[in-house]
Amino acid sequence: MQHRVIVTGASKGIGAAIAKRYLSTGAEVLICARNLTHLEEFKKECAHLQGELHIFQCDMSKEEDVHAFAKHAVSVFPNGCTALINNAGFFAPGSFSDIDIASFQTLLQTNF
Ligand SMILES: NC(=O)c1ccc[n+]([C@@H]2O[C@H](COP(=O)([O-])OP(=O)(O)OC[C@H]3O[C@@H](n4cnc5c(N)ncnc54)[C@H](OP(=O)(O)O)[C@@H]3O)[C@@H](O)[C@H]2O)c1
Repeated sequence: MQHRVIVTGASKGIGAAIAKRYLSTGAEVLICARNLTHLEEFKKECAHLQGELHIFQCDMSKEEDVHAFAKHAVSVFPNGCTALINNAGFFAPGSFSDIDIASFQTLLQTNF
């Protein structure tokens, strides 16, 4: 079976490693991240891999971006995906009592 995979937050780090692993098996992979330049660089880096990579600029903490990404995902994978990896997110180190409310809201909006 050829996998059709969506990985959020995948221009670097764990998401990028997951995307590469799927691409190396011939999967079709759709990824997103906020920085378009990094997405394009990652696409070039993956050009030698067997699968097909689609990139989409999206901030997963913004509802309108998430809707746009979902709409794009349906156009890329009209028959659905075989795996969805909700990887986009970040961790705010330090004490819970020290985090400011704006940062905490961004963390919740991005990670959940
Ligand atoms: N590394 C660890 O030890 C560790 C441990 C536990 C959990 N995690 C979790 O695992 C996930 C990946 O961690 P990582 O260390 O691989 O992170 P990373 O190296 O910082 O990479 C994060 C990726 O997500 C993208 N991203 C970040 N915020 C985004 C947003 N709002 N919308 C869309 N894309 C976004 C980044 O690109 P842009 O900046 O261009 O958007 C980048 O491609 C995170 O959810 C993290 O909390 C990591």
